[in-house]
Amino acid sequence: MGHVEQITNTINMLLDGASNQFSQPDDIPLSVALDSPNIHHFLVAVQSARPVDAAGNPWSASYVYDSGNLVLNMLYNLMLEATGRLQKCRLYEMCSNKAFRATVSYLIVRDLVHEKVFAKALETLGVNWGKALPVPRINTDKMPEVKDLERKNLHNIMWTFANNGETNGMAKIFKGDSPFDDGGTLEVIDGFPEGAEIPLFPESPPEFSPGLDTELKKLAQQVQIAG
Ligand SMILES: [Fe+2]
Repeated sequence: MGHVEQITNTINMLLDGASNQFSQPDDIPLSVALDSPNIHHFLVAVQSARPVDAAGNPWSASYVYDSGNLVLNMLYNLMLEATGRLQKCRLYEMCSNKAFRATVSYLIVRDLVHEKVFAKALETLGVNWGKALPVPRINTDKMPEVKDLERKNLHNIMWTFANNGETNGMAKIFKGDSPFDDGGTLEVIDGFPEGAEIPLFPESPPEFSPGLDTELKKLAQQVQIAG
C-alpha cells in the first residue's frame, strides 16, 4: 500500500494547479482536461489520482491470481515484479519532471528488491529459477536518481513491517548475496521504512471542490486540528 500512496500523491502533486493558470475573463480554466490522456482526472476526480490503469481500466480483483501451487505462484510474482520494473523504466523515459522521476526511480529500485525476494523464496524451495526464467536485467546506469538510491542499498533491503518482538520469517529467506549478478548483499531491517507527510491540497474553485459550506468547513478544520 505504501507504493500505491506514493504513486497517488505523485499524481496528485503533478495534477494540482494544472487548471489554475488563467487570468483573463474569457480563459477556460479547465480546458487543460481536453488535452489530458485521461479526462476523468479532471471530470471525475478533481485533479487527483484514480484506481485505474493508464488506459482508464478500473482495478479489478481478477488481477489477484492464485494457481494453488506455491512454486508457480512465486514464478508468477517474479515475472510480475520484473514486468513492473520494465514498465517503470519506460515511464522514466517519458517525463523529466523531478517529482515524477523521484517516485518512478524509487519504484524501479524497490521492484528490483521484490524480484530478489521471490527469487530467494524460490531458491529456498529448491527451484533453479534462473534456468527456467532468465529474468532480463534492465540497464538503469543512465538514470542518476536510480543510482543514488542504489548507493543507499535500497535495491537490497527489505523491512519486516512488524512491531518489535514480533517474529517474521523474512530474514530466514532474504539473506546472503543478491540472487542477481549485481554484487549486492541482502539485508532485512526490523520495523517500517520512514514515511513522509501526505500533502494536503488546496481548494479547486474551477472544479467546485471540495464544495463545503461554512459550517462543514469549520467541522473539517476541527477534525484536522484534532488529528
Ligand atoms: Fe514491486
